[in-house]
Amino acid sequence: MAKAKTRYVCQACGAQSAKWLGRCTDCGEYGTFVEEAAPEARPAGALSSTGGARPIADVRVDEAPRIPTGMPELDRVLGGGIVPGSLVLLGGDPGIGKSTLLLQALDGIARGGRRVLYVSGEESVQQTALRAERLGARDKRLLVLAETALETILDEADKHRPDVLAIDSVQTMHTRALDSIPGSLGQVRETAGRLLTYAKSHGIPVLLVGHVTKDGGLAGPKTLEHVVDAVLYFEGERTQHYRVLRTTKNRFGSTNEIGVFEMRSVGLAEVPNPSQLFLAERPTGVPGSVVIAAVEGSRPILVELQALVANSGGAMPRRTALGFDPNRVSLLLAVIERRCGVDVLGLDVFVNVAGGVRLAEPASDLGLVAAVVSSARRRPVDARTLCFGEVGLAGEVRAVARADLRLAEAAKMGFKRCVLPRLNVEALRAQGAEAGITLVGVRDVGAAITALIEDR
Ligand code: TYD
Ligand code: MG
Repeated sequence: MAKAKTRYVCQACGAQSAKWLGRCTDCGEYGTFVEEAAPEARPAGALSSTGGARPIADVRVDEAPRIPTGMPELDRVLGGGIVPGSLVLLGGDPGIGKSTLLLQALDGIARGGRRVLYVSGEESVQQTALRAERLGARDKRLLVLAETALETILDEADKHRPDVLAIDSVQTMHTRALDSIPGSLGQVRETAGRLLTYAKSHGIPVLLVGHVTKDGGLAGPKTLEHVVDAVLYFEGERTQHYRVLRTTKNRFGSTNEIGVFEMRSVGLAEVPNPSQLFLAERPTGVPGSVVIAAVEGSRPILVELQALVANSGGAMPRRTALGFDPNRVSLLLAVIERRCGVDVLGLDVFVNVAGGVRLAEPASDLGLVAAVVSSARRRPVDARTLCFGEVGLAGEVRAVARADLRLAEAAKMGFKRCVLPRLNVEALRAQGAEAGITLVGVRDVGAAITALIEDR
């Protein structure tokens, strides 16, 4: 095949050049040139259909059913299985378990009677088979290919006509259309573009793995986010055994759902009851430990928040927050100092969400306040009491969404008492949805602290 024409395009101003340039002669920016396939070398648009424009009411919408992966945690994150013809990016740190998750999901799809093709650009077929054996992924309909040339992969896909195509990883793939090396921005983008065309024109979903560091360190996959239909991130600490799967984008479902998995020696096991996992090692009767009810998507999760307040050795008090927004911690410490009358601003404060969970909801504010005050006063919070609520700068405790879900989970996990925003209590009483747990409604942090720490 003759090499297709390429050109270099400045990402800052759009200037084009036949050769790579270190500095754009038009806008003067450095290092902005990326190789792209010339328009005539590009296949037809991914979505172009014959017949031109027509009334939307005439478009047939009987969509093909979603493909279940046999892993309910994954299916929920996807919005109920894989949508045929969609392009899904699975991102995450190297070594976090992306290939493992993918292989297990593909085996589940294969066991459901569909043919799947797993393409690895990182491991030989023997290595992949070894991993598959460990995972018990042995279905005959699971095909494996070790290849990095996109053209060859698409030829194989045309030959075997899989129902699902998986590419591991986008950084290892290259198309002959471009001269640049695999993993370069041009290659990553072109590969994704071709796979998008393939997915849409064949109605076959393509799952694409991308190594992405936490802060989006690698430029490639971040730039793919707007191309793909869904972005799933697999997170967790490599030293911890459980993993959380999140979506940051989903054209076919909610972006709030999470899936929780545990990495075992025989692959990933689903964790249907994360609260139990996150509370398993909770110490009781220790100051600074508070249980809160968070909601991730449609799912309530109980987690333990820990705070340790200590006399500062240095001139600058230290602040460390793991799993909690540091800005939020600073703000809440100021609220504690002013509204609870506890001197914390000159002290070292360490905050940790047990199990490495990340809390992003304001509903966890009250838990942080309680944990810090509990540690500062050296008085524990009762082990069967939990709390939640947003805290404002005036020290007011504001109502949060999904109080009923949170309480139901708390009751299920054996909690007896909950300190929560007064407005939520009123709404729950009006609905008659009190979940068999003693509700203590509070309007401000002072009342919350009294109810949690002193009123025992
Ligand atoms: P992997 O799926 O290769 O990560 P990624 O594709 O995201 O780079 O997972 C690698 C890690 O998972 C590795 O440290 C070994 C561990 N692991 C298990 O603990 N159990 C298993 O069954 C498998 C397959 C891997
Ligand atoms: Mg891998």
